[in-house]
Amino acid sequence: MHTARFEPTPAWEYALSHPDDMSHLLLVACHEDEVVGWCRVFPGGEDGSAVVGIGLLKPYRDRGVGTQMLGTAIDWARQQGLQRLVLTTRSDNARAIHVFRKYGFQETGRRDGEWIEMALLL
Ligand SMILES: CC(C)(COP(=O)(O)OP(=O)(O)OC[C@H]1O[C@@H](n2cnc3c(N)ncnc32)[C@H](O)[C@@H]1OP(=O)(O)O)[C@@H](O)C(=O)NCCC(=O)NCCS
Repeated sequence: MHTARFEPTPAWEYALSHPDDMSHLLLVACHEDEVVGWCRVFPGGEDGSAVVGIGLLKPYRDRGVGTQMLGTAIDWARQQGLQRLVLTTRSDNARAIHVFRKYGFQETGRRDGEWIEMALLL
C-alpha cells in the first residue's frame, strides 16, 4: 500500500524483508488487485508483548473489515503464546478506540495530550 507519509521503521524493514519469519504477522485486506488495508503485529521485546497497528483506505472503513482483521490478529497472537498486545492511537480517534475496546483493549497511558496508549492482556 503506497502512502506519502509512510517511513518504514526498522521493525517494518525487518518484517518486509523476512516474510518467512513467523514471529511477526502482517495481514492485508485486498479489493480486486488493490491492497486496501493492513494490520500488523510485531514482537516488542522479551516480555511477551507485541505492537499492533492497523489501517484501511478511507472508502473501506466502517464496513467491518478492521474488526475482522483485528480479531484475526488477536487470535494469531494468542496462538503464538504472546502475553500482551500494545498500541498507540490518537486520543480523538473515536472509531479506532471503539474497535480496540470491543476486543478488551484498555487505556494504559496518555502522551502529549494527543496520544492514548492501550493494551490487551491475552
Ligand atoms: C480504525 C480502523 C482500522 C477501524 O476499521 P473499520 O473497518 O473502519 O471499523 P469497523 O467497521 O470494523 O468497526 C467500526 C466500529 O466503530 C464504530 N464507529 C464508527 N465511527 C465511530 C465514531 N466516530 N465513534 C465511535 N464509534 C464509531 C462503528 O459503529 C463500528 O462499531 P460496531 O462494530 O460496534 O458496530 C479504520 O477505520 C481505519 O483504518 N482508520 C484510519 C486509520 C486508523 O485510525 N488506524 C488506527 C490507529 S492505530
